[in-house]
Amino acid sequence: MSEEPTDDSSTDASGDVVRRDRFSGGPARGFLSSLAADERIFEADLAVDRAHVVMLAEQGIVDEDDAGAIFDALDEIEDAGHGDLPDGEDVHAAIETAVIQRVGQKGGRMHTARSRNDEVATCIRYRLRADLLDAVETVVGAREQLLETAREHTETVMPGFTHLQYAQPTTVAHYLLSYERALARDTERLVDAYDRTNRSPLGGAAFAGTPFDVDRERTAELLGFDSVLVNSMDASSARDFLLEATTALANLATTLSGLAEDVVIFANDGYVDLSDDYSSTSSIMPQKKNPDTLELVRSRAGDAHAAVSGLLTTLKGLPRAYNRDLQRATGHGWEAVDAVIDATEVAAGAVATAEWNEDVLAAEAGDGFSTATGVADLLAMSGVPFRTAHEMVALAAEQSADPDYETLESAAQEVLGESLSAHVDRDAVEAALDPAESVASRDSAGGPAPTAVEGQLDAAEDDLAADEAALADEREALSGAENMLREEVAEYV
Ligand code: ARG
Repeated sequence: MSEEPTDDSSTDASGDVVRRDRFSGGPARGFLSSLAADERIFEADLAVDRAHVVMLAEQGIVDEDDAGAIFDALDEIEDAGHGDLPDGEDVHAAIETAVIQRVGQKGGRMHTARSRNDEVATCIRYRLRADLLDAVETVVGAREQLLETAREHTETVMPGFTHLQYAQPTTVAHYLLSYERALARDTERLVDAYDRTNRSPLGGAAFAGTPFDVDRERTAELLGFDSVLVNSMDASSARDFLLEATTALANLATTLSGLAEDVVIFANDGYVDLSDDYSSTSSIMPQKKNPDTLELVRSRAGDAHAAVSGLLTTLKGLPRAYNRDLQRATGHGWEAVDAVIDATEVAAGAVATAEWNEDVLAAEAGDGFSTATGVADLLAMSGVPFRTAHEMVALAAEQSADPDYETLESAAQEVLGESLSAHVDRDAVEAALDPAESVASRDSAGGPAPTAVEGQLDAAEDDLAADEAALADEREALSGAENMLREEVAEYV
């Protein structure tokens, strides 16, 4: 017997009504639906459906023939693509409808012992895992490029700044390593976020569990999750993993924005020439070569920070367990992923292909009497209290923009009441005034002296190799799970 199809129901080949929603959504149908945005989790949902149905069949909740028919339908749906799905409130409902359209009412067994609440949470985690690994891979690649360039410039002296004022000379390698170190911590944060994302909510159902004898460990295993989020109410409510991932991306974007800002300034000062590939020009001023790519990298921090703010605002004060607000939370996470991954690639490419103008850097390295601290240090090493030495060198700085030995000598007479030579050799003072010698003298742990930087580069390369290996292990674990799921499904079709 066929029922009469209605607007909010679908029919299978025989004309049977296979789905009837109590609420069709009416004029708010489009407002309710996340189907278009859910394209991002289309593949994830198919994997989650397959793992769930394998588990239902293994537990004897769905018989093997029905499971096989559902798997066939899911394959067809995958081949047809997200764009071919029937209308629905979201990708989960639409895929279920599409299964039922293909195999009839037995397709409705797919949604036994689960809810869209645990389903969507699982899909977001499944997709975000892949995005986080892509983010890690991109950051690791950026670090590799920074380290390669740093290796070439351990002796390239440049001005170092605080408050945008000449401060102390350093090297290009030391400068680049400072960003590589920040990106290494950004990598750690992404990996931490990955660890907490890689846990399975599936089987928590709406929030309150299910009377069916589900095997939650098994679906977690088939989907490559490290563990199960046990409390079923927590499992479908939690979005802290999404916030954590978004925050890690925003932190990364903040690192990149500083690097981009520096290089925009360096290009303006003639310290670097950006490659044409990473520059842009003006539609009216033909002579212009602008660092637009880096300005856009800088601006992506705005997208990422907006995503954090959007998520925090959406999640704050939400009651347990599922509320539809969560549907809007998801997109904020994707915005951060999309804004930050390509910005990382562009920032790394722009820096790796830029030419450092060694002559300009060397000529400016000592500007603004940036070797002053080294002179004060020299006197302090000879026994003058640092504060007194500081006062003496400050007086010389007041007397000349570019003090020489004589200027320092007269300041010594005034502040110390004796000659400089009572404390230090003229040669040592002159060496302290030389930017390259000044850099070479600062060989404390983590300092810019080429000897100190070599050790930092070695350590950074070791960290990088460890992060690359960990990334490869995670990718292998995921592809292992994908293969396992494929093989299990093949048993039924
Ligand atoms: N599309 C929803 C989301 O993204 C999942 C649906 C859960 N809907 C519901 N009414 N409980 O969060």
